[in-house]
Amino acid sequence: MIQSIDLRSDTVTKPTDGMREAIASAEVGDDMWGEDPTVNELERRMAELLGKEAALFACSGTQSNQLGVWAHCRAGDELLIHQDGHIANYEGGAPAVLHGVTCRIFSGVGGMFEVADVESVLHPVDQHFPMSRLVCFENTTNKGGGRVWPLDQFLSVSQWSQQQGYKTHLDGARFFNACVGGGYEPAELVPHIDTISICFSKGLGCPFGSILVGSQADIDTARRGRKILGGSLRQAGIGAAAAIYALDHHIDKLAEDHRHARMLAEQISGIDGLNIDLDAVESNLVFFDVEESAGTAEQLVMALLSRGVKVLALGNQRIRACTHLDISEQEIQDSVKAVKEAMSTGLANVKMQESHPYAYR
Ligand SMILES: Cc1ncc(COP(=O)(O)O)c(C=O)c1O
Repeated sequence: MIQSIDLRSDTVTKPTDGMREAIASAEVGDDMWGEDPTVNELERRMAELLGKEAALFACSGTQSNQLGVWAHCRAGDELLIHQDGHIANYEGGAPAVLHGVTCRIFSGVGGMFEVADVESVLHPVDQHFPMSRLVCFENTTNKGGGRVWPLDQFLSVSQWSQQQGYKTHLDGARFFNACVGGGYEPAELVPHIDTISICFSKGLGCPFGSILVGSQADIDTARRGRKILGGSLRQAGIGAAAAIYALDHHIDKLAEDHRHARMLAEQISGIDGLNIDLDAVESNLVFFDVEESAGTAEQLVMALLSRGVKVLALGNQRIRACTHLDISEQEIQDSVKAVKEAMSTGLANVKMQESHPYAYR
C-alpha cells in the first residue's frame, strides 16, 4: 500500500524548513499593545497589496470572516450569501451565535452569482423584515466547486452591492488561488469590497493565521471584536513570520497545485462510474461524483482510505479532493491508480465504519 496521500484539504500542509526558520528567527513583541513588529509588517503589507487602509491578523479564517461580519452588522441584521457559502454552512452558525445576524441565501452557478440572484431574495425595507446589511462573496468558492470568479462578473456584482447601500465582504480563504487562477492582481479584484478575509493556513502552507483587510474604521471595529472573542494574541509575530514567508515563497507554487488538480481531474474523467465536469476545475479543488449505480461517496472514501489515499465525501455522491504544497506529481499519479483500482474492484463490499472521520456534508 502507498504511504498516506492526504487530499482532504490544503489545511493539512506542514510548515516547510524555510518557514520554520522564519518562525524561529521572527522579531516579536506584544501584539495586544501593537508592539509586534512582524505582525505590524504583515498587516501593513497586506493592506498595501490590496489597496486598503489597514489589516488585522487573526487566528483562523472563521475568525477573520466573523470579524468582517462584526465590522458591518448588528443584531437583527441579515447578510446575503450564496447557499453554498462557508459563512452560512461551516462556521457553526456563528453569524447567529455571535452577532444575532441571520443568513438569507440565494443560488448561483458554482458558488458564484449575478445581481439577479441576489435580487431574487430581496424584500422591502419594512419593520417586518431583518435589515439586509451585507453581501458576502467567496473566491475561490469551496463548496461551490473550487470556482474562480471571472473578474468582470465579480466587479459588477460587488459594485452593484455597494451602490445599493450594502456592505461587502469577501471570504478569500483561497484568495491567492483565485488571483493565480483568474490571472488578476490582488488589488484589482477588491475595489468594491469593504472587508477581505484571507487565509495563510490553506494553500500557502502556514500552521495557522488569517487576515482581515479593509478601511481603518472597519479594522478598528474588528480589532475590538477580536479582543472580545479572545483572539488577540501576544507574540503573534511567530505566526505573522510564517505568513510573510508564504507571501514571498509560496504564492508562486499555487500554479503547480492547480496543474496537479487538472491532471487529477483529467484522469478521473476517464474512470467508469465517476462523473466530473472538467470545465469546472479551475483551482486546487477537484469535485467529482460517484454514479449511484456504482456506489456512494462514503464507500469510495473508505475504499481509498484502505489504499492510503484520503479524500472527503461532501454529499451522498460527491467527493472533494484538494491538491496542495505537500502533494507531488507522483502522488497524483498514485492517487489516480488507487481510484482506478477501487472503482474496478467495485464499491459494494467496501467495509464501512458507522462514522468515519473523512465524511461531512
Ligand atoms: C471558503 C472558506 N472560508 C473560510 C474557511 C475557514 O477557515 P478556518 O478553517 O481557518 O477557520 C474555510 C476553511 O476551509 C474555507 O474553505
